[in-house]
Amino acid sequence: MPAATATTSTVPGTRAPRAVQAFGFFARPTPYFAKQRARHGGMFRMHVADEKPWVVVSTPELVKQVFTGDPAVFHAGSANSVLLPLLGDHSVLLLDGKEHLRQRKLLLPAFHGERMARYGDIMREAAEREVATWPIGEDLQLAPRMQEITLEVIMRAVFGMKEGAELDHVRNLLLALIENVMRPQTFLALAIAGPQRFRESGWAKRMLGPADEALFAEFAKRREAGNLEDRDDILSLLMLARDEDGRPLGDRELRDELMTLLVAGHETTATSLSWAIERLIRHPDKLARLQAELDEGREEYLTAVIHETLRLRPVLPVVVRDLQADVELGGHLLPAGTRVACSISLMHTSPEVYPDPHAFKPERFLDQKPGTYTWIPFGGGIRRCLGASFALYEMKQVLPAIVQQLDLQPVDPASERVARRLITLTPGNRALVRVAGRRTPAARPLATMVG
Ligand code: HEM
Repeated sequence: MPAATATTSTVPGTRAPRAVQAFGFFARPTPYFAKQRARHGGMFRMHVADEKPWVVVSTPELVKQVFTGDPAVFHAGSANSVLLPLLGDHSVLLLDGKEHLRQRKLLLPAFHGERMARYGDIMREAAEREVATWPIGEDLQLAPRMQEITLEVIMRAVFGMKEGAELDHVRNLLLALIENVMRPQTFLALAIAGPQRFRESGWAKRMLGPADEALFAEFAKRREAGNLEDRDDILSLLMLARDEDGRPLGDRELRDELMTLLVAGHETTATSLSWAIERLIRHPDKLARLQAELDEGREEYLTAVIHETLRLRPVLPVVVRDLQADVELGGHLLPAGTRVACSISLMHTSPEVYPDPHAFKPERFLDQKPGTYTWIPFGGGIRRCLGASFALYEMKQVLPAIVQQLDLQPVDPASERVARRLITLTPGNRALVRVAGRRTPAARPLATMVG
């Protein structure tokens, strides 16, 4: 019998024109995927523009197979190549194979769950300082405010910069750079030139130069000070890290990883925080329970609220892998070159796993721990988000600083729609709230929490 030919055409999927499929994915990925699953089941095929064929999966068995698949075959780095000019050749997000593993091993110890408690003060302070500026009696979009908090946290906990003119200088350079890169004109130029040619252009060099110089100067200053061992920030730990051959990270590698941590960790965490508030203020009973438990110094419900927010409103639509060889998946032989996408929102709204899947019910996580292959806001396997503990810990510090201090109400009782902002899925009104007043609870600061 001849061997089966690898093809995605055996996988069920829409026959709509490619442009329609691409529009569905880019404009409204969550409902578009839900429609496809309703028609074709937990594994379907689609085309996003001219890219390679996509196969979207959303059952626990298939997701597990993808996350535990051979990393030499299931590549993740290539799928993010559009970020190359910004993140650079050494970014853990863009690499695959041996080089990915080297960078990941060097970064991993700095993000170990138990270490996160050291950043609790920085996180709470950043939140409290920001919340103190919110105008009482007025309407406010929280998403940009959350970004202020998460950026401040990254500058201090990751970059290790102390408050003052220097922190402001580097922060402004980095912000200007990210804003520049995220502009539609830049994206267009990138799409036309391709990441490699784009970054060699004078435009890209002018854009990247000032921030790079500031970072290299910071590394030199840090080395000269000679007190890396006494410092707690992630940059200092990375400067001390050594790989299996005893090699440290070079300046270019340090720069690329710092930029990666900033880009991967800043807007994602801010968006999750925004969604948490957006959901809570539309469920006053849940908000009241959270406030009451926090006032009593209990954190179980807070953890459940965070898990439920990340389930119902994941920040990223998909986790993708590019197949480097033919792979059998779900009874189909998929050819090398296929992009396999685990849909986070479809997995998280699977009624077999989560009864009443569209309801915001933190209670479901009080007696059920998030499952490795059924709760996947941070992806999974060897590529699982390096900053997951950092992000969860930060949410645990920032949310109490907000809901214990302020009485927040929705401006519009209707839920905010899920809107796309380049790659993140964010509240359509940027988490618009009315800051109704200050709370006068038996508010006690929370003891430092781990996990
Ligand atoms: C709520 C906040 C966050 C969400 C939802 C999130 C989500 C994700 C997802 C889905 C991936 C891809 C995982 C995969 O391919 O399996 C990822 C990768 C990554 N994230 Fe996060 N992330 C968040 C916060 C952070 C933070 C705070 C940092 C660091 C400060 C960070 C650093 C990274 C890095 C370095 C990777 C690449 C890991 C690798 O390729 O080995 N993330 N994140």
